Amino acid sequence: MQYNVAVIGSGPGGYVAAIRCAQLGFKTAIIEKYDTLGGTCLNVGCIPSKALLDSSEHFITAKEHFAEHGIDIPAPKVNITQMIKRKSGVVKANVDGIAFLMKKNKIDVLTGVGSFVDKNTIKVTAKDGKETTITTERVIIATGSKPTPLPFAPFDKKRIISSTEALELKEVPKHFIVIGGGVIGMELGSVYARLGSKVTVVEFLDSLIPTMDGSLGKELLKVTKKLGMDFFLGHKVTSVQNTGNEVVVKAEAKDGKTIELKGDYCLVSIGRRPYTDGLGLDKVGIETVKGQIPVDEHLKTKVDNIYAIGDVVRGAMLAHKAEEEGTFVAEQFAGQKPHVHYLLIPGVVYTWPEVASVGYTEEQLKTDGKAYKVGNFPYKALGRARASMDTDGFVKILADKQTDEILGVHIIGARAADMIAAGVTAMEFRASAEDVSRMSHAHPTYMEAVKEACLAATANRPIHL
Ligand code: FAD
Ligand code: NAI
Repeated sequence: MQYNVAVIGSGPGGYVAAIRCAQLGFKTAIIEKYDTLGGTCLNVGCIPSKALLDSSEHFITAKEHFAEHGIDIPAPKVNITQMIKRKSGVVKANVDGIAFLMKKNKIDVLTGVGSFVDKNTIKVTAKDGKETTITTERVIIATGSKPTPLPFAPFDKKRIISSTEALELKEVPKHFIVIGGGVIGMELGSVYARLGSKVTVVEFLDSLIPTMDGSLGKELLKVTKKLGMDFFLGHKVTSVQNTGNEVVVKAEAKDGKTIELKGDYCLVSIGRRPYTDGLGLDKVGIETVKGQIPVDEHLKTKVDNIYAIGDVVRGAMLAHKAEEEGTFVAEQFAGQKPHVHYLLIPGVVYTWPEVASVGYTEEQLKTDGKAYKVGNFPYKALGRARASMDTDGFVKILADKQTDEILGVHIIGARAADMIAAGVTAMEFRASAEDVSRMSHAHPTYMEAVKEACLAATANRPIHL
């Protein structure tokens, strides 16, 4: 079998690259070791986590807010089996959708582990050991990432678990311990907190979601404490032990004080590592650096026909970043001149309220010595937020002190995940805070908070504050 392009890995990086290659007229194959397509994102990442976040949010709304809305129902109960079953149905619909798209675009799907024989030859080994060999002009590596274990406490997948197992629990934990207050820890921690678990987060640094603007982590701490979550920030975990019926976590604060937590599950969410096992990179002379495949600005590896995209290369480990890179590589193959604007890849945490961010953080601007202005607008001053009782959070706009160009948009609040697209659009077109403040925003909407924060940034004259 001969191809113009072979893509290894069918996550959002790989399947988007394959579709774009096929659209551009390349004969394309996609190789996936699992039986279902879609990679981490569709099978054990973005999609199933959002399904559980939505279900658990419905539960807590029914439990805690319906009565205030004037809706009287008997006390709702969690049916975790049904919740997980619905989540699995959502995953199936999505992965089946990718299989359909492969057929539609006449992309050959080869199931098995892909490994290099040489730079133009790939061996695909199926589960039953059957081997198929294909030749290809170009290769796109999109093999993604896996959860990082603690060096002293590997995942036992029973009580010391990664996000993959946390999406498949058969019971609502009594005490769900989370190590790492980053994106996964806060999303999945909040799922179980809403379902009634006691949730304790142990975070090494002094703030939650530490890569985002510092103000967001502070507010997230406040709102998730209201949900009943407990936090030990600035704590280094020293041991995690499965004792049979429970898991015991020990950690140490900077002042040397120690804590011991006992729970039924410990989610270790301290980051993910690029995945290249079994790929046979040695056969083509590619060496990983800190696990990542090194690439140049064209996403080309040191071998001229082999490219790499998504979680396996540098940059944010995000599905939409992987997708942009898939399109970027395919279009380069066709002689086009595409571009990925990495600063404008938004980041979102799907807690409730949601957290969303694009551009520079205030901490980055300070470090860079850039003169900036800040405009803040709280959700509680927003009519729309009061109507829906979603008054937690704020919009923060960072703008250049001299030119007024928007440098960063940071939102924590209801529907922030969707609102951030407006921030990306404004920044792609290099809008000033005044530009946005003079655009009509429908009333009553959450987006009015963006307009108001821009008014605050540009001339310190919000209307409703
Ligand atoms: P992956 O999706 O990891 O896909 C790689 C694929 O390659 C896998 O299917 C793997 O089986 C296959 N593969 C590996 N090696 C081989 C081989 N040798 N041969 C054949 N196949 C191989 N990102 C967001 O943007 N938004 C979110 O809401 C979000 N939520 C997340 C929630 C969780 C719980 C997790 C774990 C991640 C989440 N992410 C989210 C991150 C997102 O899933 C990843 O950034 C994204 O999946 C990366 O895409 P990728 O194509 O690079 O790799
Ligand atoms: P993360 O990088 O978001 O957070 C890891 C957290 O663990 C950090 O706060 C870090 O300081 C802390 N940490 C590291 N070592 C520690 C230790 N030994 N003890 C205590 N704390 C420790 O990583 P996470 O949450 O595992 O997610 C992995 C990747 O998946 C992220 O890069 C993210 O981009 C992606 N993802 C994206 C989502 C989204 O876009 N909504 C959702 C879930 C995951």
